Amino acid sequence: MSDQKVTALVTGASAGLGAEFCRQLADRCDVIIAVARRAERLQALRSELADRVELHPIEADLNSVEGVARTMEAMRQLGPVDYLVNNAGFSTYGYFADLDIDGSRDMVSLHIDASMTLCRAAVPFMRERGRGYIINLSSIGAFLPGKGLAVYGASKAFLNFFSLALQAELEGTGIEVQALCPGYTHTEFHQEIEQQGFDKSLIPAGMWMQADAVVAASLAALGSGKVLVVPGEQNLKLARAGCQQLLDAL
Ligand SMILES: NC(=O)c1ccc[n+]([C@@H]2O[C@H](COP(=O)([O-])OP(=O)(O)OC[C@H]3O[C@@H](n4cnc5c(N)ncnc54)[C@H](OP(=O)(O)O)[C@@H]3O)[C@@H](O)[C@H]2O)c1
Repeated sequence: MSDQKVTALVTGASAGLGAEFCRQLADRCDVIIAVARRAERLQALRSELADRVELHPIEADLNSVEGVARTMEAMRQLGPVDYLVNNAGFSTYGYFADLDIDGSRDMVSLHIDASMTLCRAAVPFMRERGRGYIINLSSIGAFLPGKGLAVYGASKAFLNFFSLALQAELEGTGIEVQALCPGYTHTEFHQEIEQQGFDKSLIPAGMWMQADAVVAASLAALGSGKVLVVPGEQNLKLARAGCQQLLDAL
């Protein structure tokens, strides 16, 4: 345990936004604890970043009690963490009643239970030191309850509400909480849902963002006091339209 080193823990670091968070946090951190199931991907990331940061790959399935416990143990041994990025996530695609319940339950477990558990583990140390950043990976889908993504959107809406309330509770502690709400971003995320009928080609090219721009927007927003961060003007418009729909539903 070191108080001198700046340390980050990033879940879902083997691909997409999580790997990009590691790349960009390498400029701010001495140590990164990188968590995912695909160990070989984490090793490759460690090699890629070897001369910039000390990266510790932790192979863990955050949908298992054992995987969460291993991650918490890494946090205890290598922490305290200054940055906690709860990024690991996935989606199913299809009408709720037609989908296997296991996928829905796994989304809730990964997006909600694992994120909440890691927040609970990190916050006391952050509070004691009077600093820390928590980034919970939400989605623009949190603002847009939509067919085919009922549980995904709802699990991300949980992260928005949770992050807003947690930030309010932590006011004056030096800890900042962010719920990052990206729109369509080029990562591996859509590969699986394409097999379930999601048609990527229907999304206009202008709606897509690159992972590096999304992560840069997230890190740039730290210090601004903003909890809900929606990268991209087009996404902000959509999020606002989604909020209006909620008001109209009252
Ligand atoms: N891409 C988008 O358009 C988009 C938009 C809005 C929000 N998001 C959110 O951004 C986050 C990152 O997604 P991405 O776009 O970067 O997708 P991605 O490229 O598919 O990466 C997902 C990451 O999550 C990890 N993961 C999945 N299940 C896991 C589990 N059970 N235990 C541990 N790690 C697990 C994967 O690692 P392993 O498979 O190696 O375990 C991978 O590193 C997600 O929370 C997603 O909901 C994405």
